[in-house]
Amino acid sequence: MWPKRVEINDVGPRDGLQNEKQPVPAAVKVELVHRLQNAGLQHIEVTSFVSPKWVPQMADNAEVMAAIHRAPGVTYSVLTPNLKGFESALATRPDAVVVFGAASEAFSQKNINCSIAESIERFAPVVQAAHAAGIPVRGAMSCCLGCPYEGEVPASQVGYLAGLMKAIGVDEIYVADTIGVGTPRATQAALEAALAHYPLERMAGHFHDTYGQALANTLAALEMGVWRFDTSVAGLGGCPYAKGATGNVSTEDVVYMLHGMGIETGIDLDALIDAGVFISQALGRKPNSRVATALLNKRAPQSAPA
Ligand code: HMG
Ligand code: MG
Repeated sequence: MWPKRVEINDVGPRDGLQNEKQPVPAAVKVELVHRLQNAGLQHIEVTSFVSPKWVPQMADNAEVMAAIHRAPGVTYSVLTPNLKGFESALATRPDAVVVFGAASEAFSQKNINCSIAESIERFAPVVQAAHAAGIPVRGAMSCCLGCPYEGEVPASQVGYLAGLMKAIGVDEIYVADTIGVGTPRATQAALEAALAHYPLERMAGHFHDTYGQALANTLAALEMGVWRFDTSVAGLGGCPYAKGATGNVSTEDVVYMLHGMGIETGIDLDALIDAGVFISQALGRKPNSRVATALLNKRAPQSAPA
């Protein structure tokens, strides 16, 4: 049974832009967030409070958060890898914070400079402080379907990490395919392992599209009843510590598929495509979305027949 409605969290402003080499002006990031909320996105991952030495593109985190004209009912989330990040984030009034761990030891070391066990020790006080401030905590779980350093990651590692997240009180988990290598059955196995610790309504899929599998994996997750997904407008994205990883599945492609299946998202596809064109032009490229490309071609004035 397909879900009737799907919740989309656009991570383009954070996951999408963190990987850009050239600095993107804060005003452009803010405009992107505004365009997404105007297109009906109710969940937007805005920025991350990580070390500016590690990810210089996110150094304007507080400036961006302060400049957003918040729309009622929209959840603005930010990444907080440790208490220092959480404390800086708190001043900007996020609606949710994200701790991010990995199902592979090597990626944990490369991405956040500590082991899986140490990362959980760092996340625990973040969860406590967030809950004390009334802020829910999401737990992103990287490399659930493969690791750029270790290769295959068994589903048991996903279950292990989900259990650790649960033990420290993380409210919901995000099963992430950081390098987009997963295929549908492996995706279902990873989700199954996570489901041993969290119920469906506290679980989301976060699929990068490096190998063109993300839409199929989204469908495989939907088949299991998963109804929350991270996607990225214009297919922006990648992780600076996962070489070669490209963007998340594009929000446009997922929304088109869902609407075609009669599943509601609350998102206006045309306005979403315009948001994707806006950020793509700012970055000097075309949207990385098949649906956006198709619908933009349709919009373009037809050339005169020869
Ligand atoms: P570290 O070097 O181990 O941290 O980095 P430390 O505690 O030893 O501190 C070293 C320095 O960093 C100190 O400054 C701290 O103040 C500073 P110094 O004394 O040298 O001047 N520092 C900070 N500054 C600002 N904000 C902070 C912070 N913490 C320490 N929060 C750390 C550990 C986690 C900070 C670092 O490894 C880091 O910033 N990593 C971020 C990596 C990242 O952002 N990756 C991309 C996001 S995750 C992702 O994309 C995956 C996801 O999309 C899901 C998926 O697809 O898999 C979520
Ligand atoms: Mg990601």
